[in-house]
Parts: sequence; C-alpha cells; structure tokens
Amino acid sequence: MAEKKEKFYITTPIYYTNGLPHIGHTYTTVVADMLRRYKRMRGYDVVMTTGTDEHGVNVERAAKNAGIAESEFVARMADAWRALWDELDLNADEFVRTTDLKHVRTVQWLFRLCKENGYVYKGHYTGQYCIYDNAYVNDAKPGDPCPDCGRPTETVTEENYFFKLSAFQKPLLDFYKKYPDFIQPETRRNEIISFVEGGLKDLSITRTSIRWGIPVPGEEPHTFYVWFDALCAYISAVDGPEYERRGMWPADVHLVGKDIIRFHTVYWPAFLMAAMLPVPRQVWAHGWFLMDAAKMSKSKGNVVLPRPIVNMLGIDALRYFLLRDVVFGQDGNFSYDALVTRYNSDLANGLGNLASRTAALLEKNFAGKVPKPGTGLPQDDVLARETRSAIGEVLERFDRFEFSRGLETIWTVIAAADKYLTAEQPWALGNAPDEELRKATILWTTAELLRIVSVLAHSVLPQSTSKIWAWLGQAGSLSAAELDGLRWGQLVPGTTLGKFQALFPRVEKTEAIERIEAMANEELNPPSAAPAPAPGSPTASHGGGAAAPAPGVVDKIGIEDFAKVEMRVGQVKTAERIVGADKLLKLTVDIGSEIRQICAGIAQYYEPESLIGRKVVVVVNLAPRKLRGVESNGMIVAASVGPEGRPVLAGFAEEVEVGARLK
Ligand code: MSP
Repeated sequence: MAEKKEKFYITTPIYYTNGLPHIGHTYTTVVADMLRRYKRMRGYDVVMTTGTDEHGVNVERAAKNAGIAESEFVARMADAWRALWDELDLNADEFVRTTDLKHVRTVQWLFRLCKENGYVYKGHYTGQYCIYDNAYVNDAKPGDPCPDCGRPTETVTEENYFFKLSAFQKPLLDFYKKYPDFIQPETRRNEIISFVEGGLKDLSITRTSIRWGIPVPGEEPHTFYVWFDALCAYISAVDGPEYERRGMWPADVHLVGKDIIRFHTVYWPAFLMAAMLPVPRQVWAHGWFLMDAAKMSKSKGNVVLPRPIVNMLGIDALRYFLLRDVVFGQDGNFSYDALVTRYNSDLANGLGNLASRTAALLEKNFAGKVPKPGTGLPQDDVLARETRSAIGEVLERFDRFEFSRGLETIWTVIAAADKYLTAEQPWALGNAPDEELRKATILWTTAELLRIVSVLAHSVLPQSTSKIWAWLGQAGSLSAAELDGLRWGQLVPGTTLGKFQALFPRVEKTEAIERIEAMANEELNPPSAAPAPAPGSPTASHGGGAAAPAPGVVDKIGIEDFAKVEMRVGQVKTAERIVGADKLLKLTVDIGSEIRQICAGIAQYYEPESLIGRKVVVVVNLAPRKLRGVESNGMIVAASVGPEGRPVLAGFAEEVEVGARLK
C-alpha cells in the first residue's frame, strides 16, 4: 500500500467583493499557487483555498447603488473573481464564498463552541467604526479619521455579543513563545507580541446595525461581525464542523498581507482556542506592492491589473516577476519598466535563450536525440557540481519562503551554462570522432542542466518549464516530478527530443509598456458602447441601455438559427498533446450520452493535466473533421482574449450536470 502523504494546507485571504483583483491580490494568490505546486512536487498532499468575503455594510451599500439585491451583487462579483483566477491558471482546490451554506454553518458552529465554553457575553458598545475596513478604531473620538485608510469614522452604539479576548493575553503570549515560527517574518512577530503585551480588550463579534451578514441563531437582528465570519472561511473550506473527516485542518500556512496580520495572529487563534479547536501552524505576512510609494487601492486609482500583463508577456512572466522582484515579507515598488526589463533579461535572454540555443544545436548535430556524453573535462564537472549544489540550495530557500533567493540560485546556474556554451563553442567543432564526442558532452551537459532547471523552476514557471520538459522528451507531467529524487545525470542518452517551442519572445520595452497600459486603460474604462465590468464597478456591464453594435460587425440571427447549435456541458476525461501540432490538444470529453474525441487549439495555454475533470461547453452537433490527421468530433467553446486571441475556456461557476444543454 502506498505510504500516506503528509498533508499541507495553504490559504489566501478571502477577498472583498467590492472590487476586482489587482496585482496585490494576485501576488498573494500566486504565492499560494506556487507553494501548492512546490509542496506537491515534494510529496505532500496539498490543498490550497481562496474565496470571497461577501458580507458587511460595504456590500449593502454597493448593491443598493447598483439597484440590485446583495445576493445578486456578490454572486456576480464572486463569478468575476473566479473567472479571473481561472484565466491566470490560479484555480484553488476550494473556493469559499461567505454566503455558502457550508460556511454559514461553520460560523454558527464556532460561535456556539465559544459560547458554550464561556467566552461570549452580551453587552453594549459605542465606538468609532470604519465601514471601509470593517473595524472599530480603538480610542478614536467622533470625527477622527480611520488610521488605516484616512476616511472618516462613524459613531456606532449597539447591543453586541462580546468575545472575551482579554482572557487570551497569556495563552496567546505562551503560544507565540512555544511556537516561534507561528508568525512570520520575525519583524511582524515582534510587532504582534508587543501589541498583545500591551493588553487586549474584549471584542464585539456581532452587530445589530448590519443586515447583510450571517444571522446569530435565535438572536435576530444580530449578525456576525465580518471578521468573525471571514476567518471561519479557512475551516469551512475544509469541511467546517466535519473538518476531522477531511483531515486538512489546521492550516499549515495562512498567507496574508501585512495589513491583516492582527486579525490572523491575535483574534483568529483566540477564537480557535476558545472553541478548543486546533490553531493554524503559521501565518506568513508579506509586504505590499506599492505604486508610487503608496498602497494600491481602487479609491486612489493607482491599481495595476494582472490581465494586461499576462496578455502581453504570459502567465509565467507575471509569476516570475512577483516572486523574483521583491523579497517575500517586504514591500516592493511596482513598475512596468522593471517588469519588462526583468522579462527581457531573465526570461527572454536568460532561460529562453539558453533553451533555444541548446535545442537548435541538438537538432542540427544529433538529429533531435539526446547524445551520449563522453568523459567530462574539468569545466563540465564544475557546471555539474554547481547545478547539484543548486538543487539543495533552491529547496532550502523555497522552504524558508525565500522565493526571490531561490530563483536567484536557479538563474546563477542558467548564467553559468550560458557562459559555458559560449566558452566551449560546440558549434565550432567539426565531425572528427573526438570532436563529435566533445560536442555530445557539451550538449548533453547543457540539456541535463535545463532538465534540472525545469524541475526546480516548475512551481514558479509552470507553463514554460512544461514546454522544456516536453521538448526534452521526458515522460509524464512535470508537475508529477519529484523534487526530492532530482539528481544530476538522469537525462538518458538516446531519448528522442520533442519539437522545441519558443518560450519568451523578446519584447521592445517601450512598445510593450504602451500595449500593457492601453489594455489596462481599456479594462478600467471600458468603451461606453460595449460596457464591461471594470474593477470596482461590478455593475458596469449591467448598466442598462442597449449597446449599439459596431456597424457591419454582426447581422442579427433569429432564435431558430441559434437553436440549430446544440451546446452541452461536457467533462474532460483525458487530454494529451498531439505530436507535430503544437497548438492542438486531443481530448476525450464525456457529454452525457457518449464520450467524444475533440481536438482543441489550446495547447499553448493549457496544460493537458490541468483539464482533466474540468467542465467545458461543447458544440456537439458540428460535423466531424480531421485536424492534423486526428478526428475531432465537436468543438470546445472558449473566449478569445487579448490581441493574440488567447483562448479562455468557457465554464461554470456553479456545479452543472454533464450533458446539460445550453440555451
Ligand atoms: N476580506 C479581507 C480578508 C479576510 S481573510 C479571512 C481582506 N480582503 S482584501 O480584498 O482587502 O484583500 C486583502 C489581501 O489582498 C491582503 O491581505 C493582501 O494579501 C492582498 N493585497 C491587497 N493589496 C495589496 C497590495 N497592494 N500588495 C500586496 N498585497 C495586497 O482584507
């Protein structure tokens, strides 16, 4: 029997639904996804969760402004968040909405446990409250601004349930002492310890003034304070009251921005201790991405959007930049200039160039097969040694969440290989047997180094490293490769190489920045003729008023024409690349009544294994045809996004039955 894997549970914060994701939210989610991939490659059974935080007075107000019910407002926003994560290939294993029934049950259960254990009482509270941050401002007087966002606070008096936070000063301090790694990084730990040492006041955890919240059972009109509600999402994501069945709780790491560390390291463990539930193992607070030295925010109008960057440079480029450019835990300035500079230097001229040079040389000299190396010269051994020691160093650094430094190590090896190729000049060697053998040794060495780099960097660059892996003729999915079994010397001579796919085309900086900015501008200010939701304005696309179609773009069709197209929900059963067709994937799809083979032109954007089990929309009554010699019986529906028409698969935010017809 296979050994049971150790579990690892990673969370991102659940994001507010009053705006759409910008690069700051994307950052946390990218780190979570990177860790998920990394930990899986280290043999863990990993779950990563994210979600949306949908209650509170902000939503009440936004929905009112939009003239729709709160439930509809948050449903639209949750869909938009999920769709963007899908587009960025950042789909969590669980996506929690705080309006989900399973979440509501969890919040009520946690409250009941805290109450039964004597940590909840009823009282009155008057204080200054910031409705934007959903927090009372301690010691503020009427009229004082919120210290976090600077907006005016409101005076609120209400009957509340209180949580006896004051009883947890000592247990928390003991806990921090016993588990020194609980709060990371160190500077945040010190901050929190001195905050708790300064004394803790009881915390009001219900509201009577807010209707749009989870009801306190039997105590209407009390609803739960948004933070009591939101923090519970981490348990509801992994089966709530039945958490033991799932076996994932407690979380191994909560990834959060430094703005919300207190909620996670003071309130949250105190709630859990009161309920006698296991406390998370670690809270890791990262810094902010700043724009012109200020935190990005919708209200300041200085947000950077992920989609235009990805459309221009690809998903891997965004991931690489976020993880490489700032030290995890510290603040960093965001600039398009730095982004494109890094893209060109590290990705296009670095990894991309090394791989394409090696591929061209192998193709030309060894007919697309991995050559058998001869006895190495000292310089070959030096490179091998450097790569070997990089393996351990990268794992150590990634384990310590030093993502930037881990990547630095990988890129040191890439630079060394680049130098090695330039110094050894395999292209200048002739056809005499000893020269052939030398060429074989040099190119085997470089290819082996690229194989190792692709395994090491896969969690950060999932798409491009998978291309290297496929080109190197390696079996199976790279995501299933084991980091702990990675050794120098595993590249087998004679392996047939696949077709090389370019990784990171070099871009002209000014032009690339202009294009990213133009796309961002369009997303933030959609042309009025074709309204689409902009970040922070979920209603933009529903603002009424028929949009005038651009002249000559579409002729109207009757419903009878539309009815001719039969679309059904399908579920992908298998997916594989087609040799010699780098854009196509061959899929088998269950459409309810039968299993169909369908070719889809999405290979450059979707990893085959990521599609297994995914629900897709299939046009089922399209005449069959052959694509590159492979029969395709139907069509998968996708949006065409950005200037290069990147396909984004159509899908569903809710569970749908396989075979259901779309109308
Ligand atoms: N809903 C709460 C969290 C509840 S968790 C139980 C919330 N939501 S949020 O939408 O404001 O997202 C906050 C998180 O987004 C931050 O903690 C951080 O992870 C990320 N970021 C938002 N802006 C950011 C930057 N400018 N830079 C980096 N990350 C930031 O708070």
